[in-house]
Amino acid sequence: MDHSGEYWVGLMSGTSVDGVDAVVADFSTTPPRICATLVVPIPAPLKQRILQLCQPGSNEIERLGALDVELGNHFAEVAMRVVEKAGLTPAEIQAIGSHGQTVRHEPTASTPFTLQIGDPNVIAQRSGITTVADFRRRDLAVGGQGAPLAPAYHHWFLRQQRGVVVNIGGMANVTLLSTTSEAVIGFDTGPGNVLIDSWLNEQKGEAMDRDGQWAAQGVVCQRLLEQMSADPFFAQPPPKSTGREHFNHHWLHQQLEQLEPTLRLAISVYDCAATLTELTAMTIADAILRQSVETGDCWVCGGGAHNPQLLLRLQAHLPGWRVESSVTVGMEPDWVEAMAFAWLARQTLRGESGNLPSVTGADQSVILGAIFPVESYWKQPL
Ligand SMILES: Nc1ncnc2c1ncn2[C@@H]1O[C@H](COP(=O)(O)OP(=O)(O)O)[C@@H](O)[C@H]1O
Ligand SMILES: [Mg+2]
Repeated sequence: MDHSGEYWVGLMSGTSVDGVDAVVADFSTTPPRICATLVVPIPAPLKQRILQLCQPGSNEIERLGALDVELGNHFAEVAMRVVEKAGLTPAEIQAIGSHGQTVRHEPTASTPFTLQIGDPNVIAQRSGITTVADFRRRDLAVGGQGAPLAPAYHHWFLRQQRGVVVNIGGMANVTLLSTTSEAVIGFDTGPGNVLIDSWLNEQKGEAMDRDGQWAAQGVVCQRLLEQMSADPFFAQPPPKSTGREHFNHHWLHQQLEQLEPTLRLAISVYDCAATLTELTAMTIADAILRQSVETGDCWVCGGGAHNPQLLLRLQAHLPGWRVESSVTVGMEPDWVEAMAFAWLARQTLRGESGNLPSVTGADQSVILGAIFPVESYWKQPL
């Protein structure tokens, strides 16, 4: 292994709470090269506690404080393992960019706020690597939504390309690329996999609808689909972002309860999976078509890129478009978000902005994140 690169670590744990994605990337080349990747599942009891904290409940400060440190330890372990897997030492890493775990995202509250946990003090101390974290709140401080942040990375990575990047994680977000950063459009379209996961978990104890098997055997319930797609979030113009606060298990059950009892009872597990898959695909496609008159390329990344049923329905709602995996344009679909946070950490330490005001709605572009330095940071300024 050649050790002469410029190595950065990216850590991401999204709203799906499925696992921590980690990458080591070498940014000395164009495009950056992925040196090692790792996904470490979040143990079920820890996942349970994260999900509990995503909803209002009692004794939140105590639970938040403990989970913040525990997740910091978990992230540190993952970072150290991926560095080792790359055949590198902590001293060779410029910094870790850690997104953290979102436990609350309220960009439209009377006092907007967002909260990601996984103590970066612990990550820096345990790994011996300077850590950059808390990327979203600086954007909120200049009037932005704090999300989505990945479109800035998509724009940087795909500067010369025209097309749309669709990231289907727990939530889904789109980036409509442009050659100038001021013209990039990006926003959350609504639920990605979150409702599908929630349904299969409740009904079958499964973490997901693996390969879209359940949805493939069901029939879309048009009445339910119409009702769900009438949620005001979908018609709202960008900038916009969302999370588990809005689209969650409770939302899904409210939707089901609003149906006539006879209809509700006639919907099978398969049918509901098919309807939720259709909702995700349709709302992503509608969001794109509202912004763009021309057909073109649609590059899909995130866990949803592994769901053939979701891709099939997305293509059906985007006639004339080429719906393909983001690997087509050199972005490994499973690592785009983790790469984005490695890149965002790099932007921060280079003193460069990380947000796109046209995307988040911020008043200005700003340097994002907080730096948790180790000794070498002061000895080798970039
Ligand atoms: N083989 C698969 N079939 C269907 N869905 C999948 C598959 N692999 C991953 N997913 C979906 O992707 C989700 C994880 O996507 P991810 O991009 O990690 O989201 P997040 O950023 O929210 O963590 C899983 O919860 C699951 O819904
Ligand atoms: Mg994930």
